Amino acid sequence: MDKPTIQYIIEEAIGSGIEEILIITGRSKRAIEDHFDRSIELEFALESKGKKDLLEQVKDISEMINIHYIRQKQPKGLGHAINCAKSFVGNEPFAVLLGDDIVDAKTKPCLKQLIDVYNEYKTTVLGVQEVSYDDVSKYGIVDGKHIENGVYKVKNLVEKPQKEEAPSNIAILGRYIITPEIFEILDNTKPGAGGEIQLTDALKDLATKQAMYAYNFEGKRYDVGNKLGFLQATVEFALKREDLRDEFLEYLINTIEKETDEVALTKEDEIEI
Ligand code: G1P
Repeated sequence: MDKPTIQYIIEEAIGSGIEEILIITGRSKRAIEDHFDRSIELEFALESKGKKDLLEQVKDISEMINIHYIRQKQPKGLGHAINCAKSFVGNEPFAVLLGDDIVDAKTKPCLKQLIDVYNEYKTTVLGVQEVSYDDVSKYGIVDGKHIENGVYKVKNLVEKPQKEEAPSNIAILGRYIITPEIFEILDNTKPGAGGEIQLTDALKDLATKQAMYAYNFEGKRYDVGNKLGFLQATVEFALKREDLRDEFLEYLINTIEKETDEVALTKEDEIEI
């Protein structure tokens, strides 16, 4: 749509009460810093053209709160990226939001739901939902016991298991509240699935030392790191926008009708042949 996916994530964090944000970036991702910075030239151009709404939007982004950046120098995995935040985080529990996972929650932002569970249990909480068994090999999977209202006590975790080996279909979907003891563990975590230092492996270790919970959050999650997920999110978010919905819906209906006619014609041709 008209903002990058990372902005949805930052907005979720802010909406959940987070005040300090660290973005772990990497090579050739400077556009992220530029996006959240002030754009004096753009502000001036919008002001002189009298485009007040757009001017406000541009200012809102740069005034969003304190955003800090650290570069992960080598792509050694999610666990390694999280370990880059060690000195920023210090000795406090912290939230992790993965940039590929966008959650559209009805009433309470996904992260706020996890924070509420954290406030009850005062220990690590993983954001989870059930996925199809055909998809378990894409996720960190929880072996847990359901204890109350969508809360599971975590017994074990497996990163990207084969369908046959998965302990359940409860998948970690890019939202975590983690206690700072994870950093000591990450320092010694060896590369796991895909040859990368996996956060799930470090969490598995942490679960043997401290209680850990998983929470089945409310909200539709989109994997914008894959092409189909990105398209689904774009279409569904556009349909929620009052200023676009009617025209876009008409376009979609026409396009689908045209495509369906073409498919029908091709099928008729095949039958004639
Ligand atoms: C990462 C995590 C995985 C988690 C997933 C959620 O995998 O390693 O445990 O389930 O994010 O999106 P990635 O998608 O980076 O391969």
